[in-house]
Amino acid sequence: MGARNSIVLFFFMLFALSSASPRHKNKYKPCKHLVLYFHETVYNGTNAADATSAIVAAPQGANLTILAPQNYFGNIVIFNDPITLDNNIHSKPVGRAQGFYLYDRKDTITAWFGFSFILNSTDYQGSINFIGPNPVFEKTRDISVVGGSGDFFMHRGIATLTTDAFEGKYFFSLRVDIKFYECW
Ligand SMILES: *[C@@H]1O[C@H](CO)[C@@H](O)[C@H](O)[C@H]1NC(C)=O
Ligand SMILES: *[C@@H]1O[C@H](CO)[C@@H](O)[C@H](O)[C@H]1NC(C)=O
Ligand SMILES: *[C@@H]1O[C@H](CO)[C@@H](O)[C@H](O)[C@H]1NC(C)=O
Repeated sequence: MGARNSIVLFFFMLFALSSASPRHKNKYKPCKHLVLYFHETVYNGTNAADATSAIVAAPQGANLTILAPQNYFGNIVIFNDPITLDNNIHSKPVGRAQGFYLYDRKDTITAWFGFSFILNSTDYQGSINFIGPNPVFEKTRDISVVGGSGDFFMHRGIATLTTDAFEGKYFFSLRVDIKFYECW
C-alpha cells in the first residue's frame, strides 16, 4: 500500500471512529426524576422487633451484633428497609429497599451497595436497581442506576445519596435523589 493510500485510510478510520462515538441526546437533562427516602435499623442483639437489617458476615473473631472494629471492614449487611416519599420514617411506605452492602475499607467507613427499590404505590409499580460505593462521610455520593422493571423498564441513570438522619451506629435514613437519563 502506498503512503498516500495509508493516509487516506487513516483519515477514513478517524472519521469512522468519530462518527461511531455515542451521541448523548439530552446530555444533562433527566427524562425522569424522583426523590425517595429509606430507613434502616440494624439488628444489634436486642431490637429484633424493629430491625430491618442484619449483619450476616464479620471478620474472624468479630460479632454479628456489633460492627467490626476497623471501620466495620469485613462486615456484610443484608437489608429490607421501608421506602417513604418524605423523610418521616412513620410515613406510609411506598415500597421496600432490598439488598446488601459490604464495608470495604479499613481506614475510613465506606460501604459498597447493591440493592433494588421495589415500588408498589399508586404512582409507581416496578423495580429500580442500584450499585456503587457509598463513602458515608462525603456529603453526597453518586451511585449507578443500572436498570429496572415495570414503570422503570430499561431505565438508567444516577442516584445521589445523602444521609438524612442517623442515630448511633444502628439507625440511619438515606435520601435518594434519582435522575434517569435513559427512559423508555
Ligand atoms: C439496640 O437498639 C435498641 C433500639 O435502638 C436500643 O434500645 C438498645 O439499647 C440497643 N442495644 C444495644 C446492645 O446496643
Ligand atoms: C456479641 O457481643 C454481645 C455484647 O458483648 C454479646 O452479648 C453476645 O453474646 C455476642 N454474640 C456472639 C455470637 O458472640
Ligand atoms: C402491592 O400493593 C397492593 C395494594 O396494597 C397489594 O395488594 C399487593 O399485594 C402489593 N404487591 C406486592 C408485590 O407487594
